[in-house]
Amino acid sequence: MCGIVGYIGPRPVVPILLDGLKKLEYRGYDSSGIALTEGNGIEVFKRQGKLDALREELNGREFCAAAGIGHTRWATHGRPSDINAHPHTDCQGRFAVVHNGIIENYLPLKEWLISMGHIFRSETDTEVLPHLMEEFYEGDLVRTVMRVIRKLEGSYAMVVLALDEPGRLVAVRQDSPLVVGLGEGENFLASDIPALLCHTRNTYILEDGEIADVTPEGVAVLDRDGRKVEKSVFHVKWEAAQAEKGGYDHFMLKEIYEQPRALKDTLSGRIDPDSSRVVLSEIRMTPEQVRNIKKIFITACGTAYHAGLVGKHIIEKLVRIPVEIDIASEFRYRDPLVDGDSLVIVVSQSGETADTLAALRESRRRGARVLAVTNVVDSSIAREADDILYTWAGPEIAVASTKAYTTQLMCMCLIGLYLADIRGTLPEAERKAIIREMRKLGDKVRAILENCNVIDRFVQDYAGSENAFFIGRGLDHTVAMEGALKLKEISYIHAEAYAAGELKHGTLALIVKGVPVIALATQQDLYEKMVSNIKEVKAREATVMALAMNGAKDVEKVADHVLHLPSTHPLLAPVLTVVPLQLLAYRMAVARNCDVDQPRNLAKSVTVE
Ligand code: G6P
Repeated sequence: MCGIVGYIGPRPVVPILLDGLKKLEYRGYDSSGIALTEGNGIEVFKRQGKLDALREELNGREFCAAAGIGHTRWATHGRPSDINAHPHTDCQGRFAVVHNGIIENYLPLKEWLISMGHIFRSETDTEVLPHLMEEFYEGDLVRTVMRVIRKLEGSYAMVVLALDEPGRLVAVRQDSPLVVGLGEGENFLASDIPALLCHTRNTYILEDGEIADVTPEGVAVLDRDGRKVEKSVFHVKWEAAQAEKGGYDHFMLKEIYEQPRALKDTLSGRIDPDSSRVVLSEIRMTPEQVRNIKKIFITACGTAYHAGLVGKHIIEKLVRIPVEIDIASEFRYRDPLVDGDSLVIVVSQSGETADTLAALRESRRRGARVLAVTNVVDSSIAREADDILYTWAGPEIAVASTKAYTTQLMCMCLIGLYLADIRGTLPEAERKAIIREMRKLGDKVRAILENCNVIDRFVQDYAGSENAFFIGRGLDHTVAMEGALKLKEISYIHAEAYAAGELKHGTLALIVKGVPVIALATQQDLYEKMVSNIKEVKAREATVMALAMNGAKDVEKVADHVLHLPSTHPLLAPVLTVVPLQLLAYRMAVARNCDVDQPRNLAKSVTVE
């Protein structure tokens, strides 16, 4: 997804912009560019490809700019190209604009601007912005931005640079994140905090419709009618190193190994040490509201959706309320039977996913209470939900989600226990047993990470495969879906997850000699059935790697490779089962020389539909 940076102050602008863009690379991008106020003009440099291409373009040049803006683009309107890269300028080169989001009414605006004599160069929706600026400018950049945004439909975070007012940057957001970094004698803008961390920890998080007028001396925030907004400073507590690779070859690997800590953080302060009850102070639902819930919906995208699938099992089991689960892009358009008696749980690592945010808004419009499970404090989803449960996984940089998923699973369990407690649906002994096991999960994940040789052997043999199958029953099936997604995303191996009982209704036709099958057999009550399913694929000469709990009998006799996991409560098994699957995907991707952290065509944060 696109990234924005801006800087105004006395230091050399170009390195600050490039470093900021580098920190935003994890969002995924296909081109990048910067614009600077230089002497009598605005200079723009932009290149398709990775940031190195832009660096090369800038190499050896001297700059004395006092302000600049930069952008990494992830193509939506118009293919990735130098011309479509941001920043975009008007006809005379007096305004340069970087933009994230989609201007939905850009076509009529573009037609109107063309009829007024404007000449367009790119295929982007964004280019209407500098031309609108040019059309409306009467000597005051802030007023012009206010006038421009009145014309816009859609989502935007944008920053504007004007030749006639070189001492300021003006920024505005609507449905797309934007943060102001507060320095001394200098100020910053970025679409995400990691781009600011090496300069400042003091920020203003802009809200929808807020306009920031940024000069080296200060930042004024105004609403869309020009009234001053009193902002409070948000002090970022993350360590800068936390947002970097910290010794691992890839962010994904680092994040896989961070899971023991992340899982502990998710629990911290949420279990009363005396009563061992779940305490979720962030959730402000009254006990009466909890007792009145008739139905629960869970909605999310990608890996977060897979966490929701596990959540459905957990909540139905513990709370005995029917739970429906939907992919957010489906939910928002399917006229769901959500009403004032429903609780809608939205799950989103980034808290910015456009479809999930739209599903949240649709649910609230229908009168439901919305509980968000997210990793990003003050994200759009966090701000719009009625209640929030933060996953506390720390920044996740790799596009393929790992620690966000396992901490989301932990949150699902916390929610289940919390609701069950209020509704009195769970015997105390069972609650205590689950909590006892939750506390041990971090250490058990660590133990799995220390003992994964089976995976290395499997990778050596199968890195050249073009297909793989993941099978499981019950909760194992939901984890199989996540395992298959991980493998597809980063190693580009075609992977299918199948409910093992369904094999004979289709997929078995694809099982031939040597096809790798990853069989999950951690659910005790379904174990015998799984062993039969493994035999089914073995009979077709597949090669099977099975994941089973310590002590599982007979699995060695049927599978080619077996990875034993520390045993735990069946509802918590997904947190453990997924870990070898994350490592499997990672090692396959490395063996196949894939770009692990930034897989082709994917973005970390999908803030457009
Ligand atoms: C993108 C990412 C996935 C993520 C999904 C949902 O597709 O590549 O890793 O699971 O978005 O993102 P969210 O931030 O809402 O969890």
